[in-house]
Order: sequence, then structure tokens, then C-alpha cells
Amino acid sequence: MAARVKVTITEMKPKIKIRLAIESVSLVLMLVLILSGCKTNVKNYTSSYEYRVDSLLKLMTLEEKVGQLTLYTSDYDVTGPTIREGYKDDIKAGKVGAIFNAFGADYTRKLQEMAVKETRLHIPLLFGYDVIHGHKTIFPVPLGEAASWDMNAIYKSARIAGDEASAQGLHWTFAPMCDIARDPRWGRMVEGAGEDTYLGSRIAVQRVKGFQGDGVGSLNSVMACVKHFAAYGAAQAGRDYSTVDMSDRVLREVYFPPYKAAIDAGAATVMTSFNELDGVPASGNKYLMTDVLRNEWGFGGFVVTDYTSIMEMIPHGIAEDTASAAALAIEAGVDMDMQAGFYQDALPGLVKKGIIKEDLIDASVRRILRKKFELGLFEDPYRYSNVEREKATIMKPEFLDAARDIAKRSIVLLKNDKQLLPLSKTQKKIAVIGPLANARQEMIGSWSAAGDWSKAVTLLEGIKSKVTSADHVLYAKGCNINDDSTKYLAEAIRVAKQADVVVLAVGEAALMTGEAASRASLDLPGIQQKLVEEIQKAGKPVVVVLMNGRPLTIEWIDKNVPSVLETWFLGTQTGYAIADVLFGDYNPSGKLPVTFPRSVGQIPIFYNMKNTGRPMDPNSKYTSKYLDESNEPLYPFGYGLSYTIFSYGDVVLSKNSISDTDELSVTCKVTNTGIYDGEEVVQLYIRDLVGSVTRPVKELKGFEKIMLKKGESRDVVFKLTTKDLSFYKKDMTFGAEPGKFQIMVGGNSKDLKIAEFVLR
Ligand code: BGC
Repeated sequence: MAARVKVTITEMKPKIKIRLAIESVSLVLMLVLILSGCKTNVKNYTSSYEYRVDSLLKLMTLEEKVGQLTLYTSDYDVTGPTIREGYKDDIKAGKVGAIFNAFGADYTRKLQEMAVKETRLHIPLLFGYDVIHGHKTIFPVPLGEAASWDMNAIYKSARIAGDEASAQGLHWTFAPMCDIARDPRWGRMVEGAGEDTYLGSRIAVQRVKGFQGDGVGSLNSVMACVKHFAAYGAAQAGRDYSTVDMSDRVLREVYFPPYKAAIDAGAATVMTSFNELDGVPASGNKYLMTDVLRNEWGFGGFVVTDYTSIMEMIPHGIAEDTASAAALAIEAGVDMDMQAGFYQDALPGLVKKGIIKEDLIDASVRRILRKKFELGLFEDPYRYSNVEREKATIMKPEFLDAARDIAKRSIVLLKNDKQLLPLSKTQKKIAVIGPLANARQEMIGSWSAAGDWSKAVTLLEGIKSKVTSADHVLYAKGCNINDDSTKYLAEAIRVAKQADVVVLAVGEAALMTGEAASRASLDLPGIQQKLVEEIQKAGKPVVVVLMNGRPLTIEWIDKNVPSVLETWFLGTQTGYAIADVLFGDYNPSGKLPVTFPRSVGQIPIFYNMKNTGRPMDPNSKYTSKYLDESNEPLYPFGYGLSYTIFSYGDVVLSKNSISDTDELSVTCKVTNTGIYDGEEVVQLYIRDLVGSVTRPVKELKGFEKIMLKKGESRDVVFKLTTKDLSFYKKDMTFGAEPGKFQIMVGGNSKDLKIAEFVLR
């Protein structure tokens, strides 16, 4: 930040002092009216905000306006409830409009008092924070939660997060992340809903609705922030912050819809992304922030940068200094500068020099002030900073119950030979082995910012809580998560040999996914692969429990180990949730929201690829394939087993030919033919066989999670309209084209029953 020169009131000329005195009387009167809400009988509150926003704007100096566009950190995670002196001065001078990384009813109240009592215009601060998968009660990492395909559960976890966060004085979460991610090397895949546009869009809606509850301003909710706009997930080579380059068609068809769905669901704010797109970094990208977001999609909230991404336009090579970066951003339509301080340093000067029009600044200030009004902060700036509510809300028992419920729904059973699972609770001896078996610190995963890992339940504790005698549970660490030491190995083998069954928890450390956590290898880190092989050799039945924030390349495990559970990072209640599944108190129902490759060389691998002109043919060399690897993933998108068996009947269509105004009913009978009650995610895919541009081999267009008792059958009915068949045609208009379509229904993206129809 640039050094600031302070002018005190005593240094001013007498005439100015008199003018100021007169102004301050009318200022006080005006402010009383604006801040108190001019309690008129205005029924249309939106227009009443508009009036108040305008009135307030008229009182603001240019510097105060730019202050509203400035967001600084309080570094709570590092320093506790303190804030840098420079930022305190900025708050008091009205040069900061929002603070992130500050939470707690007491602490936010203190900061708010600084803004409300010590600034000229008494404008309250906005408090933002990364509430990504729970605030204090931590839920599964977003990718894991997506594996539940359970819209109620996903809504509920965001709802609880909103309740807890707002009880700690927060107004705003930097979530949901709506970036489609098709490269598991990219560590931030963990923060989103995986590879699919349709599933990602459905989940984005639930997360926004959950965070925002009854709407911006309802006391137990926070504003959502759709991020990272746009296409951050397509970073080249899976390297974080890397370049993104794609056609407008792919952008609009694959990457945009989840952001758009979140905005249509009412998301109050949007965050830019770090990456460039078509040569222009998102924070300076007018096409994204103005043409698409505001003009096409009608987004009316405000846009914040991702961290210092305005500053990063200098190394990107698109701005040569602070002023040009700030100008690029404000002209692109970016309202708030997170942490760079570039707006603060450069915008007043740019306006004074006539380079930037003050109207542009005013438009951004309006968007931000509107949200502060909607949040009710002008009526009561402390309404979210309530110690009593905080005490009554944080981690209350019903939240913990919900966290356990959602966690167990997120678990995916990848393999279960000879029904090794579920385990019996009266098992003689269970060996719980592995670097993640008792690793409390890892359980809440990455981006669990305010989460308290010391309150998390480990797998070992979860298992002990289930069995008839805890003495029957043996434990050995086996190895560390990510180093070469073999010192714990022999003990683990000894323990395995004493047991009747081994539960082996392996995977990644929590911080191996998340921001700046790209990996070039997706193998188990450290010597964990060796640990698995040695334990397997001990000759006891082994259940591998994976904990990780992305797909891992586990072909050896799939070939050799009888049972495998994908458990991601499940949050505060991890151990209980996994134990619920291991012992059959809950029949696993999760399905992968992302394809698991066999090897890194297959990446990018996702289910809705194009067919190519030479689709893979094992008998023909000159077809699209590898010399040294199969084209098939290890586990396809949508895959996940149950302790019971679901069988699918034929796909029955209401018509074989439809017009563009018809609705098509697709019915499939699903039967639980196994011996347990269970839930199944019934998935519907389409394929447009011939188009004016080529179409993917499969596209998810519907799903329903159903509960079937053993022996029970249900007709699952999907309704399709031409909207579901639409895409960006050759001329980039959006619509459906006449011709033949396939409809596919099944329990994953590979094993599907097919029917065909024609769109006339
Ligand atoms: C991340 C964002 C996050 C922000 C604030 C950035 O580094 O990319 O996702 O919201 O920090 O913590």
C-alpha cells in the first residue's frame, strides 16, 4: 500500500472550517435519515434502499467511495482477534469497506464499532470468510459431499454453515466454488462438485440456497459468493493459477452453467478467478464481468477479486503498474479489490486525472452499499455479532447429527468382494492400520478455515464406538502419510497378523488438496503403497478406507484388495460416519462425482467425451487409444456400490418421436434384489447422435436418489423437454436440433439401459 498523508482539521483554512461546520450539521441530519431507514411507509423496500444508497453516495468523498471497494484481511487464523495497525487506521478513515478472516461475535463487534463510531459517515463493515464446507461443524469436503448426490443433505450442510457463520458475526461466505474440474492433478478439485456440468449446477443451487437461507438479510444466513469466475478449473496441466484457454462453446456449455445456476438461485456476489481466459485475466476481463455476468445474465450483486488478482495482472503481463491494473479491473466491472490495495492506491488519482469516470466508481459503490442495506446493517450494524446466539448455535448437537448423516451419505463403496462388508460388531479382532486411521488433524480436510480439528472423530474412535468390546480393536500407524520412513511398518504387519480383519486407512494429507496443492502423481504418497502391499500379504481380509480430496490412481488396490471405501475427508464426524458404513448401520449410497483414472497419463478423462472420427477399437491400431494404457477409467463417473443389489428394467419412453413442444416421459423400473434396504442414485443420460457440431457420447440430464426396501421395485420417471436436448449449435444459438437421440438410464455412467427417440 502507498504511504498515506494525513491532513488534520487544525491545518485547514478558516473558510473551509466554517463550510465544514455547516456541512456537518446537514450531514448529521442526512445521515440520521439514511442510516435510520427513513421509516416512511414505503412498501417497496428495494426502492427505499435505492433512495438511501443514492443519498449516502452524495455525501461520500471519492476516497470514502473507494474505501467501500476495498477489502482487507484481519489475519485471524494467524494472529487471533487482532488486526494490523495500518488497517485499523484505514477503517477509521473510511478507507476500508469490508474485512475478511475476522469472525467471532465479540471480535466482529469490536471492528464494527471502529467503523460505525469512528468514521465520518458511520458506514458499517461487511465481514467475509471462507466458509466452504461448514464453519465450526465441519461437513465433508465439497467434492465428497457431491458424492452424496443428495440435494437435501447438501442444502442442509450449507444451511447449517450459514447459521453458524452468521452467529459469529459473518455476513458473507466465499462459496460455493462452482468450477467444473476435470483434472484431478488440480488440488482445488476438492472444493467443487466434480467434473459434471449438470450435477455441478444442481449442487450449486443447493449451496447458494443453503447459505442464503430465507434471503440476504435473514439473520441466520450469509451471502453466497459464486467462485471462481470463470473456468479456473481448466488450469493447464492441472497446475494451480495456470493459464486457461478454451473455445467459447466449451466455456458456455461446460463451464458456465454452474455459475449461472448459482446466480439464478440468487447468489448475492461473485468472485473472479486467478486465471486468464483468452489472454485476459479474469479480474480485468470485461467480457466475463460485464458482458456475460451483468448484461447477459442480469447479475445485480457485486463482484470481488480473488485475493490479490488485480495485482497479479502485472506478472500476467497485461498491466504495467498499479494504476493500469486498477483501471483494467474497474473498467471490466470488478467492484471490490480483495487485499491488493490497488483500488485504494490508484482509483482516486485515476478519477482526478480524468482517466476513470467517477460514475464507474459510483456504480460499484452502489452495488456494495445495497448489500449492506439488504443485510440490515444500517438498521443494526451489530445484528450478526450476538454472543448469546453464538453460544447457542455453534456445534449444537443437532448440527453434529446432521454432519454425521451427511458424511455417511458421501461415502462411496468402490469394491466389496464376497460381501466382506459390512463387518460384524462382534468381530473377534479388528486391526485398524494406516497413517490416516487416527490422524485427527487431517479429518476436517482442507478449507475448513474456522474448523477445530481437535473436535474431529477419528476412524479408530469411530470403530471403537461400534464394537462390543474396544479391546478387540488393535491399532498400528504403519507409516507416515508422506515420507519414506519404514520404522512403523513391522509393527503394522505384526498387528495385521493378529487380527481377523484389517481396516486400512490410507490416502492424502488434508493439505495435499486445496489451493496451491497440485500433484503430478496421483499415487498414494510416501510409502503407503508398500504398506498396503505388505498388509495384504499378511493374509487377512483387508478393507481399504481411502481419505483424499481427489481421485487417486489405485489400480493395484482395486485388483488385490477385496473391499475399498472412498471416504474423502468427511469432517467433524468422520470416524462415526465411516463406522456407520463399515458395520452396516448405513448402507453406502454415494456415487463418484468424478472419474477415477487408472493412471495420470489418461488425464483429462471424463465421461462425456466426444466420440472422435476413430473411436477406440481394440482390433484396429489406428484408432483413438494408448499403446500402453486402456481408455477405460478405473471407476467411471456416477459409480458406487451398495450392500444390496439394484437391477434395472428396460427404459420405456412415452413416445418414440416428439415435437419441440412435447414432454417426453422416461420410465425405468428399479428393483432392490439384494438382502438389505438401500438407496440408489438412478441416473439419466442422453446422446444426440448427429448435430451441427459434434456432441458428447453421454450427458447427464437427470437423476433421482431413491430408497428401496429389499425386494421392493419402483418406476422411476424422468420428464425431458427440448431444453434438456439443447446446446450451442454451429451458429452459437442455443437450442435443440431435430434428429435421433439415445436415452440411457442406470446406476453409473457406464452400465446403462438404452432407448432411442426422434426429435421432429
Ligand atoms: C482463494 C479463494 C479464497 C480467497 C480468500 C484465495 O486465495 O483462491 O478461493 O476465497 O483466497 O481466502
